[in-house]
Amino acid sequence: MPRTEPRGARRRLSVPVRSRRFWGLQATILAIMTLHTLVLASLGGRDLAGIPAPLTSSLMLIPVLYAAVSFGAAGAMATATWATALFALHWLVVHRDPVTSAHLWIELVSMLVLAASGAVVGQRVDAERAARTRTEHALQQVAVAEARFHDLFEHQPSPVVVTDTEDVVLEANSAAHRLLGDAVVGQPLVLVAGHTTGDLLARDAPLPITAADGTVHQYMPSTHTLTDGNGRTVTQVVLADVSQEHRRREVQRAFTGRVLEAQEQERLHLSRELHDEPLQQLTYLTRNLDELGSDPRLPSDLAHPVHEGEDLARAASASLRHLIQGLRPPVLDDLGLVPALRQLAETVHGRAGLTVRVRTVGEMTRAPAEIELAVYRIAQEALTNAVKHAHARHVALEVEIGAGLVVTVRDDGQGFDLGRGGDGGLGLIGARERAERIGASLAVESRPGAGATIRVSVPLE
Ligand SMILES: Nc1ncnc2c1ncn2[C@@H]1O[C@H](COP(=O)(O)OP(=O)(O)O)[C@@H](O)[C@H]1O
Ligand SMILES: [Mg+2]
Repeated sequence: MPRTEPRGARRRLSVPVRSRRFWGLQATILAIMTLHTLVLASLGGRDLAGIPAPLTSSLMLIPVLYAAVSFGAAGAMATATWATALFALHWLVVHRDPVTSAHLWIELVSMLVLAASGAVVGQRVDAERAARTRTEHALQQVAVAEARFHDLFEHQPSPVVVTDTEDVVLEANSAAHRLLGDAVVGQPLVLVAGHTTGDLLARDAPLPITAADGTVHQYMPSTHTLTDGNGRTVTQVVLADVSQEHRRREVQRAFTGRVLEAQEQERLHLSRELHDEPLQQLTYLTRNLDELGSDPRLPSDLAHPVHEGEDLARAASASLRHLIQGLRPPVLDDLGLVPALRQLAETVHGRAGLTVRVRTVGEMTRAPAEIELAVYRIAQEALTNAVKHAHARHVALEVEIGAGLVVTVRDDGQGFDLGRGGDGGLGLIGARERAERIGASLAVESRPGAGATIRVSVPLE
């Protein structure tokens, strides 16, 4: 907004020619002068009760000062000039007797005093007037700014409330009135919104608020604490309605959950199928080949291919067993998380060569199947990453059972930048998703060159 100079703030020396009062004053001076001339004429050279005639001019001080107070310096100067002109006319033209030099001096000094008084008082009045105009203009600007701010506050589509340090609502815009009810001002925020200002200050996730009409919306609060005009600390809370995003996220989460579930079902199904049919058949085949190989009736030239066949069948069933374990280790369902993790550690060691030390703390009990499965999958992902990305040599896998279940996988590999990590693949995203579904928290810590740690913690009732 460009700052405009208030009208009249600049000193303008203009004679108030449009003012009737001004012309009335000039007419009054003319009338006084006429009267003065008539009185002097009627006295015929005598003075009135000893008053010297020139002193009449000092009476003109009254209209000049009046002009100064009413119209400022310009008006006073114009009035003084007019009076001087009339006096000059009187003494030089109308007055019949010759004018003495003493008389002239008195008149001259009188007129100068008249002009100087008019100028001084008029200027003072002008300066005061200008100052008053400036103050009025500034106040007006403040009022305009305040009105604009209030308009913004009032018509902001998001509910906005201002609370004091005691959590009492001091102000609420119309959206906040619609959301929290008409009587929101003066009430503690916790009563009308179900959350204290402190809750909202600490919050960085959406929260549900039940509106006055009973509907529940999700709001993302943003808070701003400031000191108001009276020196009080107040908090402004803007509640952005994020219900739509929230719903979308819920749908997305439900979808991801179903996908994970379906994937687990499929894996379970496949692993059972592979276990029940091909693995059994391969085991049977291996035993048969073993019996055949050790049968003395076997011709010696057939012994080698039979042994080879037996080795092949054994290798195939080992591969199949690994595959089944990777899909869904039966030991997880049969014996639980810790034996399954031990088996996983052995498999990783056998395949990738790195040592995986498993340590348990607390009494090992079984946790609900879906928790065991999710934690197992997270540990599996951490071990895969330790092999695939970290190129680690040692991994420490720790299982703690107490009030909750905490599994930590720490590798001594190359580590990664958390700021950019995780966007490379779906592994950590999937781990987070699984953790969220069982109410667990997942922490990933890593720095380039300093290894990586993944910890999943689930509270157990
Ligand atoms: N233990 C680790 N050591 C070093 N880098 C890792 C580790 N775990 C994850 N990363 C980094 O994080 C990225 C994402 O990992 P992840 O989500 O598991 O994806 P991916 O499916 O590629 O394994 C990887 O590409 C890798 O750069
Ligand atoms: Mg991975």
